[in-house]
Formats: sequence, C-alpha cells, structure tokens
Amino acid sequence: MRDWMGRDLHYLRVSLTERCNLKCIYCREENAHCKAKKELSLEEFTRLMQVFVALGVTKVRLTGGEPLVRRDLEQIVRMTAGFPQIRDISMTTNAQGLADRLPALHAAGLRRINISLDSLDPARYRRMTRGGDLSEVYKGMEAAARENMPVKLNVVLVRGENDQEIDRFIALARAYPIDVRFIELMPFSALGTRDDRRVPGQEILERHPELHPVAPHDVSQPSQDYQADGFAGRVGLINPISHKFCADCNRIRLTSDGKLRMCLGDDHETDLRPWMNDRRLAQVIRDAVYHKPEGHCFAHSYHAARTMNQIGG
Ligand code: 5AD
Repeated sequence: MRDWMGRDLHYLRVSLTERCNLKCIYCREENAHCKAKKELSLEEFTRLMQVFVALGVTKVRLTGGEPLVRRDLEQIVRMTAGFPQIRDISMTTNAQGLADRLPALHAAGLRRINISLDSLDPARYRRMTRGGDLSEVYKGMEAAARENMPVKLNVVLVRGENDQEIDRFIALARAYPIDVRFIELMPFSALGTRDDRRVPGQEILERHPELHPVAPHDVSQPSQDYQADGFAGRVGLINPISHKFCADCNRIRLTSDGKLRMCLGDDHETDLRPWMNDRRLAQVIRDAVYHKPEGHCFAHSYHAARTMNQIGG
C-alpha cells in the first residue's frame, strides 16, 4: 500500500488488548481501567489479517497493552504465521510470565521479541512499572536465549528516574548479543508531557564518544544504531522527538478495539468494525492508509487523546 507521499506501508502493528498487568508510569495513569469487552476476537483479527495481507502487509508486530494477557495469543500467532506472505512476526512484551509460554509462541511462528525493561534495579523496576517483577524479565530473556530468538530491550529514559542506569544498559549490549534501545519519552500520560523529564538521545552519545554509528538492520527502523569495539549487541537510539523519522515510516496500526490508526502521534482513526462484513472493507483500509499524515504532532504540545496502552506501543 502506498500513501499520498509515496511511502510504502507494509508493516502492521496489531494491538491485541489495552489490558496490562503493569502500569508503567509513562504509559498510563495509575487508576486506569481497561475492559476486555471491546477487544477484537480471534475471528475478527483473522478476517482483518486476510484483508491486510491481500493489501500487501508482510510484517506484523503484536503489541498491547500486554499481549500475554490474551489467552488466545498462541492461536493469534499461529493464525498470523499461516499467511505465507507474512515474513516476520514479532511481539512487544513486558515479559511477565513470558518464559513458560515462549516455546509454544515460538512454535506457533513468533520470530523475535522486544522486551520493555526500564531498570536493572528490582526496586526501581517495580516502581516504574507499578508492580513488575524484574526476575520475570530475566527468566523471559533466558527462555529467549534457549529458543535462540533475537531479543531487543526497550528502555524509556525518564530523567531523575532511570537515567543513572544508562551505563549499565550499555554494558549489557557490550556483553550480550542484545540490542538495547533507548526511547525518548513521548507525550502519553501526564508524565510523558514533561519535557524536563525527557533525556535526548544526543546526551547519551556525548557521554559515550566510543559509540560509533553502524548500518541499520532495516532501512525503515526507527532506531539509529551504535556500537563500540568488542560489542556483542547494539545500542539503539529511538528519538521520535529530537529526530523525527516520519519520512521513512512504513507502519500502520490496528488498535485492539478495531480502529485503524495511521500514526502513533496523530489521533485520527478509522473504525473498521462497521465494515467487517462489508465488501468495501479493503477499500476503506486503502483510503485510510492513503491519507496517512505526513508526520507526528509531538512537537506542537500534542497530548494524545488515548494513552499508549490503548493505542498500542
Ligand atoms: N514514551 C516512550 N515510550 C513509551 N512506551 C510506552 N509509553 C511510552 C512513552 N510515553 C514504550 C514502552 C514499550 C513500547 C512499546 O513503547 O516502554 O517498550
């Protein structure tokens, strides 16, 4: 699918649920309440996936909320992997309870995982996630290593919270074949709108002059990658605020309640539910995709109408 700017959009991020077993401080508010009722069923995801594949989607990421809270996650992975056109299925997870389910997910067709991990200190991890267990993340990473599945770590830096751990995270990428990606705080939830809490990616480079840029794994990936001598993994900087990468964007998003969202940082959405059993479904999707906005609105004191867990990370 192409949009009006000629961008080739073939990467679909599917949010399976708004629910999450954690409440990360930058993602949503503490008292947020998520209902399972509105979620698309396996059958509805299947119907939509058929159409997206026919329109040219070749790459899928499952996200949320937390995908693992869906009991039918393994079936959703298997259904997605059943389309020969889809050559890459990945998942973003907080890894709570991941270890036990990873072999089945791998067997079902999951290729790679991104784990959200904001601290290597158990108490800080618990605080930033409002209840997470760091040992679960380590178990999940060990399970991924056993399964030989590539792992990327997502670290959202929050000044005064976890910025003192940057060096420890970089040391991880040095010692292990893991990509550690530092993500600039984006304006979701009240905390995300605090510019004084954002750590610009540039600051990391200034503190670590040994890091030099390396070619990206994929041209349209949002991170700029770095390594230094002897690194087993990479350090990635995802700087949506200080370095916009919208011109290379190849992604579209499906929310768990059936809305097609063209941009994380633009609230315009198209509700696909009314079209589910309509012959015009493919045309509705194509039209919405064509009008993908030029870029996100983060710079214009934008505050998303929905929180990250509702949109899909
Ligand atoms: N700013 C930056 N990243 C965020 N994420 C969630 N909320 C925010 C935010 N406000 C990240 C999560 C997860 C990924 C999908 O999005 O940490 O790793």
